Amino acid sequence: MTLLSIKNVSLNFGGLKALNGASFDVTRGTLTGLIGPNGAGKTTLFNCISGLYRPTDGAIAFAGKAITGLPPEKVTASGLIRTFQLARGFPRMSVFDHLLLYGQHQPGESILSGLIGSAAARRRESALHDKAWAIVKRLKLERIVNHFPGNVSGGQKKLLEIGRALMTDPQMLLLDEPMAGVNPTLVNEIGDHLLALKEEGITILLIEHDMPLIRRLCDEVIVMAEGAFMARGKFDDIASDTRVQEAYLGVTRSCA
Ligand SMILES: Nc1ncnc2c1ncn2[C@@H]1O[C@H](COP(=O)(O)OP(=O)(O)O)[C@@H](O)[C@H]1O
Ligand SMILES: [Mg+2]
Repeated sequence: MTLLSIKNVSLNFGGLKALNGASFDVTRGTLTGLIGPNGAGKTTLFNCISGLYRPTDGAIAFAGKAITGLPPEKVTASGLIRTFQLARGFPRMSVFDHLLLYGQHQPGESILSGLIGSAAARRRESALHDKAWAIVKRLKLERIVNHFPGNVSGGQKKLLEIGRALMTDPQMLLLDEPMAGVNPTLVNEIGDHLLALKEEGITILLIEHDMPLIRRLCDEVIVMAEGAFMARGKFDDIASDTRVQEAYLGVTRSCA
């Protein structure tokens, strides 16, 4: 049942305990919301899971295998991927080529066989094109396939980020505010895509500040505060939990 397991994960930035013994499990096949006040450590936890940061302490397991401290490409190869802001993309590379690039599991090997020009390499390339087109169609990106990422809307960038992640055939997606700065129509569309992906068996952990959206999309919600797990449950139960309300209020007060 458990697909992702986080046990006592800690990470210090100098004297700051960004993560302070965070522990929770994510159930396979669910769309789970990860919420908590600003600075709670949600993004830092994603960075630890996806291999960008090595935790100071604790253990992370995916599909029953330890992935703590593995480099990002190994984590991705295990079937777990997070989306990245497209700021990390290549400005002179088309939307379609971005998808193709992410579908290359072994770029070294494919470049070599591409040079040799084997029939197998051509078949692989054609399969990759088919896969990228299927993703373009499902995310309705047809009109922008030849655009550079700098020339597409914020919402389309978010869809492209999801599309790139899908090119790796993930079992699980980690999404860090995939609707931030997106217009309301496209927010709902992205929400529908996430529900459809869940129906196809992809497990999703979603960081999002829009509470009505979390309520609509998520089977269950996990709350983090001060670098640690605080609560989990159905959205309505979480929303009426006074400890959770106080955690949010505490941040509002200290910001005021
Ligand atoms: N690279 C970093 N260097 C130093 N401090 C950081 C770094 N990244 C995050 N932090 C700090 O760690 C804490 C958790 O941040 P973050 O994970 O971004 O929270 P959230 O995503 O829940 O808003 C915050 O206090 C933040 O300022
Ligand atoms: Mg964050």
